[in-house]
Amino acid sequence: MADEREHRDRTVRPPDWDAQAACFDEEPDHGLRDPVVRAAWAARLRSWLPGDPADVLDLGCGTGSLSLLAAEQGHRVTAVDLSPAMTERARAKLAGHTAEVLCGPAEDPPVAERRFDVVLVRHVLWTLPDQARVLRHWRDLLRPGGRFVLVEGVWGDPYPVGVPAHRLTALLGPLTVGARVERLSGDPLLWGKAVTDERYAVVAGV
Ligand SMILES: C[S@@+](CC[C@H](N)C(=O)[O-])C[C@H]1O[C@@H](n2cnc3c(N)ncnc32)[C@H](O)[C@@H]1O
Repeated sequence: MADEREHRDRTVRPPDWDAQAACFDEEPDHGLRDPVVRAAWAARLRSWLPGDPADVLDLGCGTGSLSLLAAEQGHRVTAVDLSPAMTERARAKLAGHTAEVLCGPAEDPPVAERRFDVVLVRHVLWTLPDQARVLRHWRDLLRPGGRFVLVEGVWGDPYPVGVPAHRLTALLGPLTVGARVERLSGDPLLWGKAVTDERYAVVAGV
């Protein structure tokens, strides 16, 4: 059974993100339009990000909802997404903030030699092949003392997709120190509803 699930995880075809951009923010945890959901994510993010203003790289930023929260908390944000339609929305959302939105691949973001204090990634790693290689590259984008903030999970019925926490922490083991898993399924305020599937964040230093 576990093997079947792992096989499906590896072979799942990612959605057409450009096509999804127009309605993406309708999901409570995507658009964060409900002030209660927004406050729940803002509180979690504040606890995961450094206390002082930091350079945050949000990879696969989508419409920029988490980037906006980070910018509102005083961080300097670089947001990257492969989908032109998503980046267009993220640019509009982040206008007027200390934030830059770039169109490009999360696996090899177009940031040249720049280095960051935080690599923030929510609900993106599961779509990427060769996650071990991608995580190594992201580790190299972090300054010494920097951290990963990765929000992932396993969703969908009857054919779940995603990255279980045990697999992600195993991948992070050789790259990070002090990886901490925070379980998020039990907090309905984050999702705008009760959920029973696996949802979590990993905060890990380098
Ligand atoms: C489920 S959405 C998550 C968006 C955002 N991180 C959030 O939590 O609201 C996945 C996003 O990853 C982007 N994406 C998928 N594959 C990508 C890749 N290889 N490089 C950059 N972005 C990618 C998609 O365009 C989409 O915006």
